[in-house]
Amino acid sequence: MDTDFVPFAHTPIPHFKQFTLVNQTPQIKALMTILRNKDTPRRDFVFYSDRLFRILMEEGMGHLPFSEEIVETPTAAKYVGLKFESKLCGVSIIRAGESMESALRQICPHCRIGKILIQRSEDGQAVPKLYYTKVPKDIASRQVLLLDPMLATGGSAICAIEELIKLGVPEERILFLNLLATPEGVEAILSRFPSMSICSIALDEKLDEQKYIIPGLGDFGDRYFGTD
Ligand code: PRP
Ligand code: URA
Repeated sequence: MDTDFVPFAHTPIPHFKQFTLVNQTPQIKALMTILRNKDTPRRDFVFYSDRLFRILMEEGMGHLPFSEEIVETPTAAKYVGLKFESKLCGVSIIRAGESMESALRQICPHCRIGKILIQRSEDGQAVPKLYYTKVPKDIASRQVLLLDPMLATGGSAICAIEELIKLGVPEERILFLNLLATPEGVEAILSRFPSMSICSIALDEKLDEQKYIIPGLGDFGDRYFGTD
């Protein structure tokens, strides 16, 4: 180990009100520590990623629109509460984003899920290339949860968001959920699409010269799917 990284010690959290970092509880930090450890076996990497995705989905749901709902309780009292207002659609950025689909299905079993296949180049430039898009026909009228565990340069997410906007999804109906983000990635997305929202489990310091997140956790897709 050649760095003593103290989370956030040198990292200004971007002052974008559309960016939410989940509450950095000891539990979140402990789960992320397991993912960051290069010696964590794949079985554990998958198990703890799935736990974090579940937390992220619950957090993300709290950012969707609600409207008033009045119910009668078993004590014959009235309770003025809330209900979800909008139709949802998950959209995963293949490949790594597919790892988040099952967490979404656990809390929203019938949720429609679209796919956008984007790969960033491995020449150190991280240039995203769009290969394939398949989403529900009525996506323009849905609240979209964009799924990808890693937000590095922001290039892949920007490519996916441009595709969603072309399909008629209003910017303000896009919520990008990810595990690990960088200030650079958050700024790149929100300066271009200021009305959308981003919610992340952790925010790291920077990118290295190969555009990998530092301290990061390596290549998420390779570790989760066992292709490293
Ligand atoms: C990874 C990750 C994101 C992207 C983030 O995907 O899952 O999609 O990199 O980097 P960026 O913010 O710089 O665009 P990758 O293209 O490596 O493919 P994978 O999902 O197959 O691992
Ligand atoms: N994608 C990953 O999986 N890891 C990084 O650090 C950057 C992009």
